[in-house]
Amino acid sequence: MGNYEPDAIEVHELVVVRGGNRVLDGLSVHVPSGCVTGLLGPSGCGKTTFIRAVAGIQIIASGRIQVLGEPAGSASLRERLGYMTQASSVYPDLTVRQNLRYFAELAEADDSAVGSALDAVGLRDKRDAITGNLSGGERTRVSLAAALLSDPELYLLDEPTVGLDPVLRRDLWQLFAGLAERGRTLLVSSHVMDEAARCDRVLLMREGRLVAEDTPDGLRATTGETDLEKAFLTLAERAPAPA
Ligand SMILES: Nc1ncnc2c1ncn2[C@@H]1O[C@H](COP(=O)(O)OP(=O)(O)O)[C@@H](O)[C@H]1O
Ligand SMILES: [Mg+2]
Repeated sequence: MGNYEPDAIEVHELVVVRGGNRVLDGLSVHVPSGCVTGLLGPSGCGKTTFIRAVAGIQIIASGRIQVLGEPAGSASLRERLGYMTQASSVYPDLTVRQNLRYFAELAEADDSAVGSALDAVGLRDKRDAITGNLSGGERTRVSLAAALLSDPELYLLDEPTVGLDPVLRRDLWQLFAGLAERGRTLLVSSHVMDEAARCDRVLLMREGRLVAEDTPDGLRATTGETDLEKAFLTLAERAPAPA
C-alpha cells in the first residue's frame, strides 16, 4: 500500500456569519489528497463561503481549518493553492495571452506553459481577444488557465463549469481527473447536481450544513436512486431541518 496521505483539507466545526446569518453552521468535513472532490448544493447554500474560508480570505466566527497541514490563510500556502473565484480574477483590459503571460511570470512558468494552458481550457483561438470582451464562460476559463500555470498542489475551483456547453464541461472534468491522477487535489463546486457523477467524492451541502459526504456510488447506494439529483433530494429530506 502507499504511504499514509494526510487529508488536504480538514475542517472542524466551522461557523461563518455573513449579514447576521450563520451561512456555515458548524461544518466538519475532510477533503482527501489526490482526488477530485465535488462541493455540491443549491445556489446560496454556502459553497463560495466555504471555499473562501479554505482559501483563508473569509472571516470565520469559530472552528478550525487546516489546509495542506497549515492553518488556512497561512502565508506559506499562497504558492501551494490555486484559487479560482467565481468573479473572474483576470485583467479585463489585457488580451487572453497577455493575462496568461503575466500569471506565468508570477508562477515562474515559461511561455510554453501558456500554450499548454490555453489548449487545456480550449481558448487557443481566443488568445488575442481582449479578456473583457469574452463571454462569462470564456473569462472563467481564462481564470482557470491562470490557475493551471502555477501548477498548485491544491485547486479550489468555484463553479468552473457554470455556463459552459456540455462538450466543454466534459473536457474540463477530464482535465480535473487528469490533474488528480498527477497527484493534485481538487475541490470543485457546482450547483448542477449531475456534475457529482464526475467526482471521486462528493460533499453535499444545504443551507450551510453538510447533508452527505460520500462517493457517487455510495450516494446511489444509500438512497436507492441512480439519479444524483434525486439522491440529493432524498438526503435533503432526511436531514434535520436547520434551526
Ligand atoms: N457579502 C455577503 N453579505 C451577507 N450575506 C452574504 C454575503 N455573501 C453571501 N451571503 C449569503 O451567504 C449565503 C451563502 O452564500 P454563498 O456562499 O455565496 O452560497 P453559494 O456559493 O452556495 O451560492 C447566502 O445566503 C448568501 O445570501
Ligand atoms: Mg457561489
